[in-house]
Amino acid sequence: MEGASSASIRWALLCTLLCLSLSLSHCNVTYDGRSLIIDGHRRILFSGSIHYPRSTPQMWEGLVRKAKDGGLDVIDTYVFWNVHEPSPGNYNFEGRYDVVRFIKTVRDAGMYVHLRIGPYICGEWNFGGFPVWLKFVPGISFRTDNEPFKLAMKKFTQKIVQMMKVEHLFQSQGGPIILSQIENEYEPVKKIFGEAGKAYMNWVANIAVGMGTGVPWVMCKEDDAPDPVINTCNGFYCDYFSPNKPYKPTMWTEAWTGWFTDFGGPLYKRPVEDLAFSVARFIQKGGSFVNYYMYHGGTNFGRTAGGPFIITSYDYDAPIDEYGLIRQPKYGHLKDLHSAMKLCERALLNANPVVEPLGNYEQAHVFSSTSGGCAAFLSNYRTNSNVRVTFRNRHYDLPPWSISILPDCVNEAFNTAKVRVGTMEFQFLPLKTGLKPWESFNEGVSFVEEDSKISVAGLLEQLNMTRDATDYLWYTTSVDISPSESFGGRSPLLRVQSAGHAMHVFINGQLSGSAFGTREKRRFNFAGNINLRVGTNRISLLSVAVGLQNQGSHFESWSTGIAGPVTLEGLDRGTRDLSWQKWSYKVGLKGEYMNLHLPDSSQSGSWMHESSIMQKQQPLTWYKTYFDAPEEDEPLALDMGSMGKGQVWINGQSIGRYWTALAKGECGGCSYSGTYRPVRCQSRCGHPTQQWYHVPRSWLKPTDNLLVVFEEIGGDALRISLMKRSVSAA
Ligand SMILES: *[C@@H]1O[C@H](CO)[C@@H](O)[C@H](O)[C@H]1NC(C)=O
Ligand SMILES: *[C@@H]1O[C@H](CO)[C@@H](O)[C@H](O)[C@H]1NC(C)=O
Repeated sequence: MEGASSASIRWALLCTLLCLSLSLSHCNVTYDGRSLIIDGHRRILFSGSIHYPRSTPQMWEGLVRKAKDGGLDVIDTYVFWNVHEPSPGNYNFEGRYDVVRFIKTVRDAGMYVHLRIGPYICGEWNFGGFPVWLKFVPGISFRTDNEPFKLAMKKFTQKIVQMMKVEHLFQSQGGPIILSQIENEYEPVKKIFGEAGKAYMNWVANIAVGMGTGVPWVMCKEDDAPDPVINTCNGFYCDYFSPNKPYKPTMWTEAWTGWFTDFGGPLYKRPVEDLAFSVARFIQKGGSFVNYYMYHGGTNFGRTAGGPFIITSYDYDAPIDEYGLIRQPKYGHLKDLHSAMKLCERALLNANPVVEPLGNYEQAHVFSSTSGGCAAFLSNYRTNSNVRVTFRNRHYDLPPWSISILPDCVNEAFNTAKVRVGTMEFQFLPLKTGLKPWESFNEGVSFVEEDSKISVAGLLEQLNMTRDATDYLWYTTSVDISPSESFGGRSPLLRVQSAGHAMHVFINGQLSGSAFGTREKRRFNFAGNINLRVGTNRISLLSVAVGLQNQGSHFESWSTGIAGPVTLEGLDRGTRDLSWQKWSYKVGLKGEYMNLHLPDSSQSGSWMHESSIMQKQQPLTWYKTYFDAPEEDEPLALDMGSMGKGQVWINGQSIGRYWTALAKGECGGCSYSGTYRPVRCQSRCGHPTQQWYHVPRSWLKPTDNLLVVFEEIGGDALRISLMKRSVSAA
């Protein structure tokens, strides 16, 4: 590449002259087949995903500083359309949603930004980042050649680009943004959408490039990304990947550091040795940009988790944990990898690798040139055995599945399997300050009939009713039983088919059972024997959404809620279909209308004191208490292990959904990804998927913090406790 290299240096010089002559202080970011070119220089860049709404603005600076100390050059974030435009034309860029402040925080730390606008982002985020109102735009069809969709998508994308331009945040304006993404992992749906998908993909690339940002655009997982858009790779491994043109750089937009999980699922861990190996393998083959997804995963506060069933924690086994603490050895080992790579940067950017076999399963990748010096990567692809290889008359010991990095072609600076950083364990410890006495408030079932405004024959789709303003929709109907009914001596069987996601069945106000789907199969059937009495019986079904679908073709058309049929078996006159009789609907909970979670409103309602009602494990109950902020400065969490399923708020801010009743069943396995070594392994067997819930420090005041819990099925609120997360050497 010596020739290409000097051509690019000449070009860089030209660009610099041009910029100077136009008296601009910065060049556009460009690229060649080797790497991105920033200010006329090729670069090997390490990047990490940190999503601004998944932490608090008070955490951002610390997270970014840790990322920089960890050897990263770039912070990558999606842009989260649904939090920014909660209703059409009404924008919110405040607090956690202040994307400009986040980017400036990265800039002030001296780092670059990769802005993945999408605006479809998947991301285990509610509805894949789309606002739910978008689903109700007449004639809309998501992510395809559809005018209403294209109009809305273009409008939002242009708005974001314009915001960045006004703030001078693109590198071409002297800002930190060196790269932007349009769409997200489009290839899989394009295949399903056929010609319309291809047309849409080309249109998307056109509008992106047409915005003239002066920095390149990427499309991840889109093999056909048209010039000048760069197609990039997402995966556990990307050494098999090449861009669709030789003059585009080889970039890895998502190197998965771990994995997300769903309520009822296991937690996952990715061994750092495997992650480091995959990165070294990508760079030795010619890769020049690696983004860790996630570097800090954070928290799905409120009802932002996607799914269905994605848990509130988005820890991801990332180098920085959900709470902003450094996870060792993951963080430190990657930092060592980045330091070793930086020592090789000149060699990597000035030569193409020459591959020398060192054995059947061993290779050397050598980058050597007069201008860049020499760097070598020695690899052992055996999964089980150590090998001693000879390279340029010296011996090197390579552990299985590892790569040694020799920045001077002589001395080993780093081996991906030799972890020099000690392991640290996280634990939750009790605090000196406890919670004050609890009060409770019975949500009850009765509200539905009293206030129901909607009564129709048949079952209605849930999102059409709630517009996702709440997780909850009541479906209520009644069944008359005559005095002569004998039920054949047994209680009748109620069957309910739901399109998702969870449901609690109340018969005459009493909880008679619950059912729920899974992330893979959100539809579920409930079948349970119920007690009916002579006269009118009220059947109340509380349908609960647990995060909206964030991927799949045309997921906007997927239904939620009780789809039917609803039948009653075992009556004297046979099975009765209730699906088409009169149903009453109530959107949301009484406590939601009363804003029981808000400090000002928590005085309203008939709250009862601890002694009278607390022990009973009542379903549909609100709980509240107060606490003083702990003096210690460790991150805080609520231990919700004694509860069932619901939501929790601190000082009116939603911590998120909890669901501790659902424990992980079988566990302990590892998964593979076309490799012979596990890329992720299950952990925390036999425990609830998520027991602890992050309480951001900045949401607390010194005294009298209001904690409100809404419990759906029943739990013991007296055993909820505030804990601190701390680190100890293993
Ligand atoms: C920088 O990019 C902008 C927008 O794409 C373009 O209009 C401009 O000509 C470019 N400038 C240079 C010096 O290449
Ligand atoms: C949504 O509700 C409206 C009336 O509230 C109804 O006309 C429409 O058919 C419903 N759509 C779906 C998909 O259920």
